[in-house]
Amino acid sequence: MDLHLEGKVAVVTGASKGIGLAITRAMAEEGVRVVAAARTVGGPLAELAAGGRVRPVAVDLTDPDGPARAVREAVEAFGGLDILVNNVGAVSPRLDGFLSVSDEEWTWGLTINFLTAVRAARAALPYLIERGAASIVNVSSVNAFLPDPGVIDYCAAKAALTNLSKALSKEFGPRGVRVNTVSPGPVETDLWLGDRGVAATLAAESGNTPDDVVARTAAQTVTGRFTRAEEVADLVLLLASDRAGNSTGSDHTIDGGLITTL
Ligand SMILES: NC(=O)c1ccc[n+]([C@@H]2O[C@H](COP(=O)([O-])OP(=O)(O)OC[C@H]3O[C@@H](n4cnc5c(N)ncnc54)[C@H](OP(=O)(O)O)[C@@H]3O)[C@@H](O)[C@H]2O)c1
Repeated sequence: MDLHLEGKVAVVTGASKGIGLAITRAMAEEGVRVVAAARTVGGPLAELAAGGRVRPVAVDLTDPDGPARAVREAVEAFGGLDILVNNVGAVSPRLDGFLSVSDEEWTWGLTINFLTAVRAARAALPYLIERGAASIVNVSSVNAFLPDPGVIDYCAAKAALTNLSKALSKEFGPRGVRVNTVSPGPVETDLWLGDRGVAATLAAESGNTPDDVVARTAAQTVTGRFTRAEEVADLVLLLASDRAGNSTGSDHTIDGGLITTL
């Protein structure tokens, strides 16, 4: 299927590894010119940049001006913007419960998982509207509707992100901007599997190994495995494409059947 993405311009946040890197790679393969934002832009992202379609931008997206910097870079380098993928996010397990979570920790969780997307959308929308047909895809989480006290600030921030997406779809749909959300369950990235990822943190707390934690989590899904970053990327690309031109304000779960309700 031709996704009609050749020649489009995109900003992808949190693009140096994991899901964001997979989205950036898939977009470049489809002929999209991508501004790829993260704090560190070496390694695989630098390799992708050598192909000529990917422009890495080293930026801390929690800085109030960080998201706008990425958008400005796309407009200056490529003359406009067709697609914004708000992918950046992070989780810090709150092992001692709600009463132990400080204001500082709440501010961190809400900033990295929610405010980054608010700020990127605010910077990008004037340019997206100019195109007549454009798209925002927000990478949320099943935790937007699966509240978990162990990651309470992450859940609240992702719920806010999914809610924001729907509201933006209503306001900007009439001006040609579609806004959709992707909600992954556990994905094979550093967020879960890295040295300081969810599995390692929960394992240290419970006395199990990270592999045990992963196996138990995978067993809660119907497919029996974590989602691969490339599978999330393919879904994001479809939503970004005019092939999904009448999808807006929708949320797409990709979780191997982890969520058991409709
Ligand atoms: N993995 C999962 O199981 C899962 C499940 C549901 C939803 N999600 C969501 O999917 C998205 C991507 O997650 P992932 O699993 O791919 O995470 P990841 O592997 O930890 O990658 C996170 C990316 O964000 C960048 N980043 C983090 N903090 C940043 C900051 N302050 N400024 C700029 N860039 C920053 C990181 O690059 P630098 O460190 O170089 O800055 C990296 O490129 C997140 O929104 C996450 O909540 C993930």
